Amino acid sequence: SIHPVILSGGSGSRLWPMSRAGYPKQFLALHGDDGITMLQATAKRVQRKNFSNPLLVCNEEHRFILAEQLRQVAIEPDGIILEPVARNTAPAVAAAALRLSEKQADALMLVMPSDHVILDEASFHEAVQAAAEAAAGGALVTFGITPTQPETGYGYIQRGQPWAGDINGVFEVTRFVEKPDLKTAEQYLESGDYAWNSGIFLFRADTYINALEAFQPEMLAAARAALENSHEDLNFCRLDEAAFSASPSDSIDYAVMEQTDNAAVVPVDMGWSDLGAWSALWDIEEKDEQGNVATGDVLLHNTRNSYVHADHAMVAVSGLDDVIVVATDDAVLVVDRHNAQGVKDLVDQLKREG
Ligand code: GDD
Ligand code: MG
Repeated sequence: SIHPVILSGGSGSRLWPMSRAGYPKQFLALHGDDGITMLQATAKRVQRKNFSNPLLVCNEEHRFILAEQLRQVAIEPDGIILEPVARNTAPAVAAAALRLSEKQADALMLVMPSDHVILDEASFHEAVQAAAEAAAGGALVTFGITPTQPETGYGYIQRGQPWAGDINGVFEVTRFVEKPDLKTAEQYLESGDYAWNSGIFLFRADTYINALEAFQPEMLAAARAALENSHEDLNFCRLDEAAFSASPSDSIDYAVMEQTDNAAVVPVDMGWSDLGAWSALWDIEEKDEQGNVATGDVLLHNTRNSYVHADHAMVAVSGLDDVIVVATDDAVLVVDRHNAQGVKDLVDQLKREG
């Protein structure tokens, strides 16, 4: 069976004011009308035949929100690994791989961000099945999304020859480039043979551990010590703080995927969005005739192509196009829909100025 590993450590600052440091975006029900949060949707997506219960990795601070959200959708975790400090995704995945390998060295792990939308789950599962054989054979498999714009916040995967053994739908990776600059991203987009990295990975625990051994021995040693000296309490496994703090901080993309020559890619069209900003939510939601998405008590007049969300107070907008308005209990955001990434800088400024 495949072991889902769900990463829940991001802060999602570009979705302020809904997403907060203490309550980041994976814990919010941002998309759809079923009230299911992104974390819950991620866990439910892999609650099915041929999958084990999920292993979660999250910051210690979020342990109760996380456990409660799983309970609400009746998901029994295989475990919850708690990070006393954030060291980015590569060490988080290392801790998960080491833990899974205690029981089964070649356990297949499906690493998933907790804060993505996947509209077409059938295609997702087809892609995972296609990836399984290559992963079992020792590949680090990525899932590639057809790029639509020169986004610089993603990893880019250059597709090579069909994977040896002629496994349908799997290709060699010629190059993996994490977060290129705009000029490079434009070239990749034009060339047509690059895909976006979806941030989802499938590999054997020992494949990942061996890759760390080769490229990040210090990180592997730190994760190993953090797990060896961890404290178990119910479902929680608290990594040792001193040991884990000693790990270099890096993402799996830079630390492993850019280094390895053992990567494969499965291109997949699955209605994927990482909801990187409010504009992404406008992109995927159903719009009315004026191109607006309105949630909550909202009144729109002479307004087009806008996203307006009201939590409590009523929000009225008149005579504006392409705006995003998000009103929560204690904050109101108004931003140009074409410049929604700017919210991150705004939040940074907020933090500085208190
Ligand atoms: N447990 C844990 N600990 N999880 C973490 C940590 C951490 O320290 N840091 C980030 N995460 C989680 C986030 O919650 C998210 O679900 C996932 O890991 C990816 O982290 P992001 O910080 O969102 O990465 P990114 O969006 O900049 O880039 C990644 O995703 C892109 C697609 O959305 C990369 O994999 C890119 O290559 C990829 O294109
Ligand atoms: Mg992300």
